[in-house]
Amino acid sequence: MGENVLVIGSGGREHAICWKLADSLLLNKIYCAPGSVGISGTKDNVESVDLNIKDFAAVADWCKKNAINIVIVGPEDPLANGIVDALTADGIKCFGPTKAGAQIEANKDWSKKFMTKYQIPTARFQSFTDAKAAKDFINNAPYNALVVKASGLAAGKGVVVAANKQEACDAVDEILTDSKYGAAGETVVVEELLEGEEVSVLAFSDGDTVSIMPPAQDHKRVGDGDTGPNTGGMGAYCPCPLITPEQLADVKDQVLQRAVDGLKAEGVKYVGVLYAGLMVTKSGPMTLEFNCRFGDPETQVIMLLLESDLYQIVKACVNGTLKDMQVKWNTNVSAVGVVLASKGYPETSTKGCVISGLSSAAVRGAVVFHSGVTRGANGSLVTNGGRVLLAAATSASLRSAAAAATAAAAAIDFPGRHYRKDIARRAFNNSLSLE
Ligand code: AMP
Ligand code: GLY
Repeated sequence: MGENVLVIGSGGREHAICWKLADSLLLNKIYCAPGSVGISGTKDNVESVDLNIKDFAAVADWCKKNAINIVIVGPEDPLANGIVDALTADGIKCFGPTKAGAQIEANKDWSKKFMTKYQIPTARFQSFTDAKAAKDFINNAPYNALVVKASGLAAGKGVVVAANKQEACDAVDEILTDSKYGAAGETVVVEELLEGEEVSVLAFSDGDTVSIMPPAQDHKRVGDGDTGPNTGGMGAYCPCPLITPEQLADVKDQVLQRAVDGLKAEGVKYVGVLYAGLMVTKSGPMTLEFNCRFGDPETQVIMLLLESDLYQIVKACVNGTLKDMQVKWNTNVSAVGVVLASKGYPETSTKGCVISGLSSAAVRGAVVFHSGVTRGANGSLVTNGGRVLLAAATSASLRSAAAAATAAAAAIDFPGRHYRKDIARRAFNNSLSLE
């Protein structure tokens, strides 16, 4: 008899986690709440569960009835709201930080002060609750370009990269005076703009040891060539060569290990994934933000390269034995994932459009993860959100993996679908079309 796990979440990230867990010989059942059609279709022992994940007592009750050994939490909201504290108090083991640990993502003001205290490289900044004081600071700041951020969780929004001081002041007014993000915007962080390449480095942590995953790059803008508005992520690739092995070693020691040690010094044992969003500047990698969880869509490509048993890693983190574990990655291939988004995304999204082409020849060999897909009235798969699917492929070179993932995306259709045709292009800097 194997063990049972419950994954919390329903997006492409959770699909990729369940897909990888399904390889584990240690697991009997993999449940996912609320899950999705795609997650249920991963393998026979993967099942979506209709649970209200905001009701922590109901989740705990369900875990006990279903002999769950470990709960893996995907999204930041339940972590920031204390799901791990609640389940742990009920005797249930969790992979994910407590509410205090999740502050590293959920409270940017706290997080920036934490980085300064523990000498984690980050942009210079000041925090404000008073709009006039913030604007005075901006107008007197020695640097022209600034980034203004709502301190709290604003669903990936709430960050304004301002072209000049006026734009930065306008952002302060929106966040502090007009309360555009509600309580998430009671404090603003104003920081220096950094230039360079953005790279995501994620690490497993058991509270003492960190084990880093290969670096990935997300593509946040909706359009080719990084144009148009920001989105939740239009694609990703891994490993990302825009950070050198030496810089990566520094990020492990000076960013991720320092953060886990710092949290420990603050009385927080950080168990789960710690994600460093970095800007690789001319003077080296700087931390833009921490996330307290796996990234989306980075996880969908990172999991394709993981050779070790994900559940064994999760257990080692939960049991504090990560230092004894050798996490193995496939270093012979690259993985690229292309997001298919629905019409109007990111401003709006169109639901209920029938999806075709999932089983076509071009998609065979690709792995398709579901982000916003449901079953329509006649049983067909239909769109159910802004980001709908991610088509991923691995290949010996980043360029060939990008071509394969882009071809797989092209073979999938639904009315109004759009996707970027240049995912991973920044890494090989070339103007050839991938289609
Ligand atoms: P954050 O949620 O703090 O990562 O910010 C969201 C996005 O804003 C990042 O992924 C960057 O693209 C951009 N950003 C945040 N801080 C800075 C900064 N100091 N300099 C330049 N870009 C930034
Ligand atoms: N890929 C960005 C995030 O997961 O927050």
